[in-house]
Amino acid sequence: MTEKDFIPSEYTKLIAKGEVTWKSPSNIALVKYWGKEANQIPANPSISFTLDTCATTTKVTYKKLENKAQDFSFDLFFEGSLKEDFKPKIQTFFKRIEDYLPFLKNYHFKIETSNSFPHSSGIASSASGLSALALALMSLEKELNPDINEDYFIKKASFLARLGSGSAARSIEGDVVQWGNHEGTTNSSNLYAVKYPYKVHTNFKKYQDTILLVDKGQKEVSSTVGHNLMHGHPFSQQRFAQAHDNLTKLKEVFAEGDLKTFIEIVESEALTLHAMMMTSLPYFVLMKPNTLEIINKIWDFRKRTNTHVCFTLDAGANVHVLYPESEKEEIMQFIKDELVAFCQNGQYICDQIGFGAKKV
Ligand code: DP6
Repeated sequence: MTEKDFIPSEYTKLIAKGEVTWKSPSNIALVKYWGKEANQIPANPSISFTLDTCATTTKVTYKKLENKAQDFSFDLFFEGSLKEDFKPKIQTFFKRIEDYLPFLKNYHFKIETSNSFPHSSGIASSASGLSALALALMSLEKELNPDINEDYFIKKASFLARLGSGSAARSIEGDVVQWGNHEGTTNSSNLYAVKYPYKVHTNFKKYQDTILLVDKGQKEVSSTVGHNLMHGHPFSQQRFAQAHDNLTKLKEVFAEGDLKTFIEIVESEALTLHAMMMTSLPYFVLMKPNTLEIINKIWDFRKRTNTHVCFTLDAGANVHVLYPESEKEEIMQFIKDELVAFCQNGQYICDQIGFGAKKV
């Protein structure tokens, strides 16, 4: 499919008003998206586990305007109060998707959104937030054109979410999702994410993600600034090639349930992401001392116990602790005994692999 396939032909129905609510999860990347081209095209393919508990619920109430408006007309409520400072992000999103949803200026939208996790937790809400909004807008498009089929609906929701925030493209479906052209993956696309099409061993069923909130402050580097640092980065080409290789390797890892190699790939990806930020200009260190304390404790515990606990990081100091469900009891005890002390106010969130967004 190409971008043009997402431009709709005439709508068949007239819809005066209505409302729809979607709950959409966050996701955690195993192979990281870091670096992009124009129009939110990723510089390399990425793959993630869809999460379950960490999610955004968004209700969109729409009312047709008498005449098409000059500009987008919407109010944004975050956790019950009007939020002016979130509006520019939505404005930019609407602008980017207008060609694909030509009805946008014909409606006034009331967008009411809330997160299952604290906003100030330092957990990115753009993946869950923008995927929930993309899905709500797709529901309206389906009202206007009931012939839209399920496959198109999901692909276009991911396509639109991507234009809001790259990682949001991976939050529509579960449980393992890939985004970006990759030679070894049939039907992979830069335009939208797809459900991972190959075998995933039962070792990965209900895989656990305990998110340790090390630093709940504002992000030091916005992801847009971060991605841009990969332009002219001295190691960018090697990094992009490595992401392709890691995805290729993961195919066997997922099929065989090879946890040892899984850990190696996932931790290497996290450290490489941070290495890219440390070696760009300007450079950033986004880990905190407690991030490193946690990493060392995880390595030490893994050696001591032969369990399969590992970590991954996004572009910040928080640590995602990943482990198989079969080791949950032992690893949760370790987290409580040895890792929680390094969290800000002792805060952490227990999550696991989830199965994608739902209409509520
Ligand atoms: C480090 O999706 O937040 O989490 O497309 O600019 O909104 P934009 O970037 P964003 O980048 C996330 C990068 C990451 C890795 C990942 O999720 O793959």
